[in-house]
Amino acid sequence: MQKFNTKSILSKFDFYEYESNSSANGNLNVFNPYDNSLIKTLPSDSVSSAIEKINRMDRYRREERDFSIINNGHLLEKWHLKILEKKNDLADLMVLEQGKPLAEAISEVEYGAAFIKWYSEEGKRIKGDLLESPYSDREFLVKRQPIGLVATITPWNFPLAMFARKASAALAAGCSVITKPAEDTPLTTLAMIFLAREIGFIREILDAIVVPRSKVSEIGQLLCANQKISKVSFTGSTAVGKQLVMQGAGTLQKFSLELGGNAPFIVREDADIELASNELILSKFRNAGQTCVCANRIFVNTTIFDNFVSIFLNKVKAIKTGCGFEAGVQIGPLINHAAADRYKKLISDLKLSGAKFLHYKEISNEGLIFEPTVVVSAKRDVRAFDEEIFGPLAVIYKFDTDREAIEQSNATNYGLASYLFTESRQAIKNYTNLLDFGIVCVNAGTFSNSVAPFGGFKESGVGREGGRYGLEEFLETKFVSIK
Ligand code: SIN
Repeated sequence: MQKFNTKSILSKFDFYEYESNSSANGNLNVFNPYDNSLIKTLPSDSVSSAIEKINRMDRYRREERDFSIINNGHLLEKWHLKILEKKNDLADLMVLEQGKPLAEAISEVEYGAAFIKWYSEEGKRIKGDLLESPYSDREFLVKRQPIGLVATITPWNFPLAMFARKASAALAAGCSVITKPAEDTPLTTLAMIFLAREIGFIREILDAIVVPRSKVSEIGQLLCANQKISKVSFTGSTAVGKQLVMQGAGTLQKFSLELGGNAPFIVREDADIELASNELILSKFRNAGQTCVCANRIFVNTTIFDNFVSIFLNKVKAIKTGCGFEAGVQIGPLINHAAADRYKKLISDLKLSGAKFLHYKEISNEGLIFEPTVVVSAKRDVRAFDEEIFGPLAVIYKFDTDREAIEQSNATNYGLASYLFTESRQAIKNYTNLLDFGIVCVNAGTFSNSVAPFGGFKESGVGREGGRYGLEEFLETKFVSIK
């Protein structure tokens, strides 16, 4: 059954900036994870073409020092409207290269556009201070200035929203942005840039570097060590985040890092079980389980365990997997074969450890679609307890006391999102104080929003994205003393 027409989806956007280059530097092939078909071949940047782009942007910043925050704000407003106008075309493109269900792709476009809208308004509220000076002959000012040229390195799981979240905050602060999209999903970002060009963002303010996987490390090195780049904002794994920080050590590069998570999902004995199980479906299986904030370790109080598992299991059995364009599909393919191999290893590790599989279907072919899997009686020393699962696997553990739930939840080097289900105000107070996570979401399985700070404790990252906190990441503070 033909569920999509690749040619017609691509024809909605003009990838001209990237098509007019020669392929002397090699190519980036973009594949559809649903059927492994080739979607498009893009010419790759080289280190020297990337340097040329950086130099052009840097020159413009120095020559046009006064280019204004207000102007970027107006352009962001127009960009936001343009993106909403093209919502369905962008969503189709995202399903094609990323695989997520169409409904999720549409809500990602809206989610990403909301950041652009929020920052289009917030840039004009950046303000400094006039300080009370200790000297009668001096005036003290504190100015907030754009940090400069920002490099954003964005992930394949949210190719539109993560780019929008970073770029709009940086542009609203008066920065310029050069972005490197993920090798698996560059087209959505390039389509966004195409729309940005249409409303007036020039190459000197917003541009992209496109490279295949074989060149990612040298481009990462370039972006982190180049002194014309004032900040690197990265979303991806903790391992890659650490590598980038090392690459930037020589020039003391500044970083904002949104890294891995290992979210606990705690269901207390007084929770609304129907609500918790519905929200667990949303949290666990969003984007086929491939988000940094997906429920990763599910802790359910022993007294309600069997009841909770049986209600959850019935909901899981009703989930439809398949092509993201097909109506009713809730889980699409994993992103690529490396991701699938890693996921299979987590499953075999659980099998070897003696965990009990309540719902599971062996994968017999080379496809990337995995049925949702539910596992209980797992030990705490399995890989799925320590690592981000990044697949549709729900591992449910028992706990007896609040103290145990909090200790187990915090027993990880990560600290991004956490979830709590309870009807008790006192429990909400205790848990929100004691959970070592940047986000605590109570009685819901989703929270992502343009107005709120998104970011993690411990090895989950550095800095925050979203709301006024996200803008701070792209501003410098200058103290001016006037005699
Ligand atoms: C992520 O998984 O990296 C982002 C998820 C979100 O913004 O909700």
